[in-house]
Amino acid sequence: MSKKIIIANWKMNFSAPAAKKVIDDFMTLFKQPDNITVVICPGFTAINYVAEKITKTGLAWGAQNCYWEEYGAFTGEVSPRDLAGLGCRYVIVGHSERRTNLNESDAMVNNKVTAALAAGLTPIVCVGETFAERQEGTKEFVIMNQVNRAIAGVNLSGEKRLIIAYEPVWVIGSGQAVEPVEAGHTHQVIRQVLIDKFEAKVVEEKIKIIYGGSVDFTNINKFLDMPCIDGALVGGASLDPNNFVKLIQAAAKA
Ligand code: PGA
Repeated sequence: MSKKIIIANWKMNFSAPAAKKVIDDFMTLFKQPDNITVVICPGFTAINYVAEKITKTGLAWGAQNCYWEEYGAFTGEVSPRDLAGLGCRYVIVGHSERRTNLNESDAMVNNKVTAALAAGLTPIVCVGETFAERQEGTKEFVIMNQVNRAIAGVNLSGEKRLIIAYEPVWVIGSGQAVEPVEAGHTHQVIRQVLIDKFEAKVVEEKIKIIYGGSVDFTNINKFLDMPCIDGALVGGASLDPNNFVKLIQAAAKA
């Protein structure tokens, strides 16, 4: 069975010096479990330090966003190629905070997925319904559309890998995750979209579907016990080194 993956999304919570302290503290506590891949996604300004600190430890690192061009006149943007140059192996794409606050569209997400893959990065594509969409009963339709549009024209040849993170927008940062059974059902819906697009073997071997939204060390095992949940994208509970180490330990036992 392939390893489960736990991804820390630090969002815009730490200055570079603060991030340095957090990763230093984390590394004094952390022991790499055999059965879990751990990825840290700091803000851009802290990637370099985090990379230096965790290189050759078995931990991986990534970014929280990228642009879709390699280089050029794109003021303020960051190229996937340059992230790969910093040793990033992953990049979060289409987080709901970006979709909402910056009007990041499905087309932009698709461009970013394509560019990230071309640069050798594994995109972590975030999808999920808002509370209003859920109340309207359109949740599955919304998620299927987001996934379909994110992967339009994408192939997963060679070493390319893809992660879809199901994050119900209304539970992010709320302290109240959805029921693992419901997350599991939504993962099956996402898996069906992927099966319709890629060969089953590709879905099995190259794609992970993970859950995000108020995951912490008390509930992680319930999510990972669901057979179709391959890991978690963790915001708030990844910010405190103690809590995050506990979460990883609980994940390793799930
Ligand atoms: P949360 O955030 O764990 O704080 O809910 C998850 C995310 O936004 O990726």
